[in-house]
Amino acid sequence: MKALLCTRYGTPDDLSFIDIADPEPATGEVVVKIAAAALNFFDTLIIAGKYQYKPAMPFSPSAEFAGTVERLGAGVTSLKVGDRVLGYSGHGAAREKIALAADRLVKLPDRLDFDRAAGLTVTYGTSLHALKDRAQLREGETLAVLGASGGVGLAAVELGKIMGGRVIACASSAEKIAFAKKHGADGGIDYASEDVKDALRRMTGGRGADVIYDPVGGPYAEAALRSIAWLGRFLVVGFAAGDIPKLPLNLVLLKGCDVRGVFWGSWIERDKAGHRANTEQLIAWCADGKLSSHVHAVYPLSEATDALKAIAARKVMGKIILRP
Ligand SMILES: NC(=O)c1ccc[n+]([C@@H]2O[C@H](COP(=O)([O-])OP(=O)(O)OC[C@H]3O[C@@H](n4cnc5c(N)ncnc54)[C@H](OP(=O)(O)O)[C@@H]3O)[C@@H](O)[C@H]2O)c1
Repeated sequence: MKALLCTRYGTPDDLSFIDIADPEPATGEVVVKIAAAALNFFDTLIIAGKYQYKPAMPFSPSAEFAGTVERLGAGVTSLKVGDRVLGYSGHGAAREKIALAADRLVKLPDRLDFDRAAGLTVTYGTSLHALKDRAQLREGETLAVLGASGGVGLAAVELGKIMGGRVIACASSAEKIAFAKKHGADGGIDYASEDVKDALRRMTGGRGADVIYDPVGGPYAEAALRSIAWLGRFLVVGFAAGDIPKLPLNLVLLKGCDVRGVFWGSWIERDKAGHRANTEQLIAWCADGKLSSHVHAVYPLSEATDALKAIAARKVMGKIILRP
């Protein structure tokens, strides 16, 4: 089978696209023929050796996929050959087939296409865990989402609306804000031209945002925290801007607010039942048209290098899908 392989840390241009042996299913595993694999921002880090998690070499990037069950390992009774499934593997999905424990796969309804299903687990899973389990976002509360047109950001915009929030999309261009508004955001802040702190205050009548969802970090984190509401929750999701901000703790005191970490990858190992329930909920919402799982572009697997470069260049709105 064809596979995109990282054999040494580097840039997307250092990846190899080569033939390797098909996987064999171990006990409890199934082999899935991948129809669509999704990329995330962290794939740009994992191939550079800059991500918190470092798979053994050689490995394929792409942490999530959708496809069809092709072979069953011994002891698998929950799935059958031909079932349509999605899965989260952490890495290893940028290839034609993958072997994975059956309990890491979730069945898909026929009405949900593979491209949208492939990109559902990580971004929407992270944002649902963040808004529901960590922030306990309540109906009528104001949610400010930084990086609102990106993968996790757009998911937070759509889920925030489903949960009854008033969503303010913060992004680096008018085009990105218009895109987030098309996906349900009630208002927007262009942080390339406006100060997030002043704009958030203005848009909340001076009250501030109840929940701030921050997957970007850099200079925006502290500016946003300065406009959090009394008893607000600031969600630390990621640092796409590169710099890990340091927050002055006096702000946390003065606002009576919480700074809450979101580590979806660890939570899904600690609460497998909660993760499965969230994933099944996301699949149902997406199949019913309540979530877009918007696909920015589909690339053939052989052109994954260009896809990774587009993510690193901040050009992507929604998800990038690779098709083996
Ligand atoms: N905590 C968790 O459990 C968890 C789970 C998944 C992902 N994450 C993290 O969340 C972050 C976003 O992931 P994603 O997959 O949603 O990424 P993405 O689709 O590439 O979106 C990231 C957004 O960050 C903004 N950004 C600002 N500076 C950037 C830069 N230098 N390069 C690229 N983007 C930049 C961009 O929006 P603007 O141009 O509008 O600023 C972009 O839309 C990453 O740090 C990722 O590791 C965390």
